[in-house]
Amino acid sequence: MKTVILFGSPRKEGNTRQLVNAFSETMKKKGHDVRLLNLNEMNVRPCQGCLVCAKAGKCRINDDMKDIRKYMLESDLLVYATPTYWWGPSSQLKLVIDRSIAFFDENMESRIKGKKAVTLITCADKALDTFTPALDAFRRTFDALSLAYLGGVEEAGCEETGKVSKKALDKTRKLAQSLT
Ligand SMILES: Cc1cc2nc3c(=O)[nH]c(=O)nc-3n(C[C@H](O)[C@H](O)[C@H](O)COP(=O)(O)O)c2cc1C
Repeated sequence: MKTVILFGSPRKEGNTRQLVNAFSETMKKKGHDVRLLNLNEMNVRPCQGCLVCAKAGKCRINDDMKDIRKYMLESDLLVYATPTYWWGPSSQLKLVIDRSIAFFDENMESRIKGKKAVTLITCADKALDTFTPALDAFRRTFDALSLAYLGGVEEAGCEETGKVSKKALDKTRKLAQSLT
């Protein structure tokens, strides 16, 4: 299964990256083709709301979203990995989500319909309901884009870097293991 990881943390050795590494290693061991996109190092401009994409089939902005789009289109599984920033995804990932409007055609049909989606999210707060707004937005986004949401891992209480529990890493490996 071709997999693309949309990695939204600016911290290369941070908490979200630990979940991403556990996921990616498990998938690779199973022989899957995994590509990690470090969104923080990519140039993605904000959506301009022009909706040229609906007719033209692609966005008029010439930036790295062209490559991200290509990798998303050719993948079977899309992994949305992000720290919680103000109860939502990081802006690095949110830019990609906003620009995903270009996956709709003029009839509002999704060009990435049927692909699978997984989320990997961390936050500092110990309260699990911190994830509720982000998870709700992800679910609605995946519904709108006709993606099949296969679930995810949320790890709370990650104030400093390197605070991801063995339990969360095991859960992440198990999730990756379950994907075919
Ligand atoms: C700008 C910013 C906003 C944040 N907002 C929240 C938040 O709303 N709730 C929360 O629990 N943690 C919040 N955090 C903490 C991070 O989500 C948490 O430390 C996360 O594990 C960092 O992941 P990383 O190491 O992969 O970057 C925020 C951190 C930053 C830098």
